[in-house]
Amino acid sequence: MSATVSLSLVALLLALSHSFTHAKQVLRWSDEFRAGCKDARVCVNGGIDIRKWSFDLGDGTSFGPNMIGWGNWQRQCHTNSSANARVEAFPGKTDGMLVIQAGYSPLRTCYNENAAPSTTNYTSARLTTRDSAAFKWKGTAGNSTAVRIDVRLQVPMVAGTWPAAWMLPTTDKRWCSGCSEYGDGWCLGGEIDIMEHVNTNNFLISNVHFGGQANASWLDCHEKVGRFRAGSRAASWNVMTLIWDSTYLRFLANGKEVSRLNAGDWYTGGADRAANKFAPFDQDFFLILDMAVGGLYPGFNINDAAIAEGAARYNIDYVRVYDLLP
Ligand SMILES: *[C@@H]1O[C@H](CO)[C@@H](O)[C@H](O)[C@H]1NC(C)=O
Ligand SMILES: *[C@@H]1O[C@H](CO)[C@@H](O)[C@H](O)[C@H]1NC(C)=O
Ligand SMILES: *[C@@H]1O[C@H](CO)[C@@H](O)[C@H](O)[C@H]1NC(C)=O
Ligand SMILES: *[C@@H]1O[C@H](CO)[C@@H](O)[C@H](O)[C@H]1NC(C)=O
Repeated sequence: MSATVSLSLVALLLALSHSFTHAKQVLRWSDEFRAGCKDARVCVNGGIDIRKWSFDLGDGTSFGPNMIGWGNWQRQCHTNSSANARVEAFPGKTDGMLVIQAGYSPLRTCYNENAAPSTTNYTSARLTTRDSAAFKWKGTAGNSTAVRIDVRLQVPMVAGTWPAAWMLPTTDKRWCSGCSEYGDGWCLGGEIDIMEHVNTNNFLISNVHFGGQANASWLDCHEKVGRFRAGSRAASWNVMTLIWDSTYLRFLANGKEVSRLNAGDWYTGGADRAANKFAPFDQDFFLILDMAVGGLYPGFNINDAAIAEGAARYNIDYVRVYDLLP
């Protein structure tokens, strides 16, 4: 009996050390946001690598008239100006960080790609890897190796701000936000939020959106929120992580799990549920780094004075994407 117990204990410890301690992290993609830009053909705004990142510009109407406010009543105009997005060196260092900074500019004319100009009161920025890179686990569904995405970031404590590091499915439809293999309406294709923060909250969240009904977007969408209760550390640097395998999605804050979903917890209304056990999180997703001002999540109590003073700064030290190999 005791021999059996200790043998299974040894087996358990071996299994644990195999799956956790010895999982090999192999870097697949990263941006360290190094300051300095020597070649204007490959970088802008102090070091934003335009081979990796594209700017989404405007108030959302580029993606269709229903997308004004980016689908949830955000108030900002996204620009590609260095006032709103730039790489800055850490004080006293050559290493840099991406800074997304919101501005207060009442009644400003907002340039919309692919649509008529509009008028907005705030500016900010939204960078995506849509045109260059997308990620998911490797292998086949049910027998895969996980992808790990680490984002080291620092959020502002300003009412009305909504910084995020998140992912949407890739699509051939350039001017469709949320379109995927599983249909054209959000949330059929799913959404993975590695980090969201609003206002002066002392917690950061992770989230997963899924479900939906074919050709009836927004209906029957579900979410699973994870809360990293950071307390006084909310305004400090934190590393927010997604570990995504075909059979699970895990979210970590500074290495500690805050949320987990297993296959079966999610589905899409765009495919038969029994026959597509891993959908919609069996497709490539691209990365988005942005900061909204106002909107469904933060609400509309916006600290104009703090934004005008430059306090609405969302800093990103790095984004690192690894394969976790056995
Ligand atoms: C900003 O976008 C405009 C319009 O697409 C473009 O002409 C300009 O080169 C872009 N500037 C930067 C810094 O990306
Ligand atoms: C901008 O602010 C003005 C008041 O200064 C307000 O009337 C207008 O609705 C605001 N515009 C937007 C897009 O929020
Ligand atoms: C799982 O994938 C690995 C690597 O591709 C392969 O060697 C193994 O045979 C697969 N196992 C199953 C049960 O399909
Ligand atoms: C949804 O719309 C597409 C395109 O109009 C159509 O092909 C498809 O059959 C529709 N699906 C459902 C479930 O109504």
